[in-house]
Amino acid sequence: MSLVRSQSISFSLNPHETLLDGLERTGHEVEYQCRGGYCGMCRVRMLSGEVHYLEQPLAFVASDEILPCCCIPRGEISIDSQLRAELIVWQEQGDLFPVQQDLFSAELANADAQQASKKPNRKPRAKASAQPPTLPLF
Ligand code: FES
Repeated sequence: MSLVRSQSISFSLNPHETLLDGLERTGHEVEYQCRGGYCGMCRVRMLSGEVHYLEQPLAFVASDEILPCCCIPRGEISIDSQLRAELIVWQEQGDLFPVQQDLFSAELANADAQQASKKPNRKPRAKASAQPPTLPLF
């Protein structure tokens, strides 16, 4: 389980999520274009920790920068990233709906991870009736 600490909140990444996916899901201000490590638009400064690149990125990064679109943290990392401006205002005012506040809790992310690992629970479809419905004449 990867724990991400930004300047605003902490959250856990879901399975199969890149760091960029997690930042978007939690309302962080992130820019991107290629989502494949080519353009460098998504680069952020990593303050501590270590990441693993799914594929070797081609974009240039400084020694303290990472490309969230194509990496996954190894353990806990701290990055220089903030929530979107409107979310910061709402968070400071305590004006988020409970469901939005839950978005930032690590417990919800853990629950999402457990849910994602389960197979979908599908209900069997109701069989169509063999008899056509009777319609009133008037
Ligand atoms: S979005 Fe292009 S390198 Fe990350």
